[in-house]
Amino acid sequence: MTVSEWLAKGESYLARRRVPEPRANAEFLMAETLSVGRLTAVAQGGRELTARESHRYWSWIKERGTRRPLAYLLGHQPFLGLRIEVTKDSLVPRPETEELVIECERLLKSARIAAPKILEIGTGTGCIAIALAQLLPSATVFATDLSQSALDLAQKNALAHHVSGRVRFVREDVFSGQRRPGGWADLLVSNPPYIPTGELDRLEPEVQAEPRLALDGGKDGLDAVRAIVSAAPKLLNAGGILALEIGSEQGPAALKLFQAASFEGVQIKRDAQGCERFAFGVLPARGGA
Ligand SMILES: C[S@@+](CC[C@H](N)C(=O)[O-])C[C@H]1O[C@@H](n2cnc3c(N)ncnc32)[C@H](O)[C@@H]1O
Repeated sequence: MTVSEWLAKGESYLARRRVPEPRANAEFLMAETLSVGRLTAVAQGGRELTARESHRYWSWIKERGTRRPLAYLLGHQPFLGLRIEVTKDSLVPRPETEELVIECERLLKSARIAAPKILEIGTGTGCIAIALAQLLPSATVFATDLSQSALDLAQKNALAHHVSGRVRFVREDVFSGQRRPGGWADLLVSNPPYIPTGELDRLEPEVQAEPRLALDGGKDGLDAVRAIVSAAPKLLNAGGILALEIGSEQGPAALKLFQAASFEGVQIKRDAQGCERFAFGVLPARGGA
């Protein structure tokens, strides 16, 4: 059978199993089978697959049909043009988190800090820390997570993208208080777990396959957000920026938390889908507000 025929067969198999975007999924798996880009794979429509390629492609299609996340099958996910390795121990980086990184880059550049110091809480694959280190070549990044397997993966990703000299990964529990000296960071950024516990069972099967530690934000989804916002004034320099990704219903609560922790210029921003998704604030000078 040709590439085109396998693509059609894969698409219809995935569609019957209610996999979202079945055609795109079949194309990505074909591209991985042929070790080429997606467009190149599609352009080779008339090429016959070898027995080995057909076997590989069809095993992946069948596995994707069980709703295992595409990124876990491929073993990687693009993030701001970087190939980020992912495993079942890490959240799959999302497009809205790319928007968070771009906004952080913009805020740090407009603050004109020569060599910004960045703290990331809950680094997962390391995508935020690594992308920021690449976008801001004079920055140093300190990134934490509770999951050692996520930290090992993040370290591997940092090495692959040549920023391991400027990004340090440390195992730390956001709920156990920060042991580092305070007043260190110019930016504290986090995409914390923010899904309310009661909603986890209703998520798409692909999301349920991701680590619960990366998703579960407690009863109202705000446990980690509260811990980060309350620790932030001790961790940031005066004028430092707190930037969080939040759930689409959490804007009003995040606004109150930021204001209660004395942040100024607090803004809740929407993502490209139009959902409230990010909270930003600036720590005033000591003794201010
Ligand atoms: C939503 S994921 C974000 C991962 C990555 N930064 C991203 O944006 O794709 C949240 C991360 O927080 C970590 N995490 C969960 N609870 C934590 C805790 N108590 N202390 C530190 N990190 C925690 C999880 O292991 C996970 O990697």
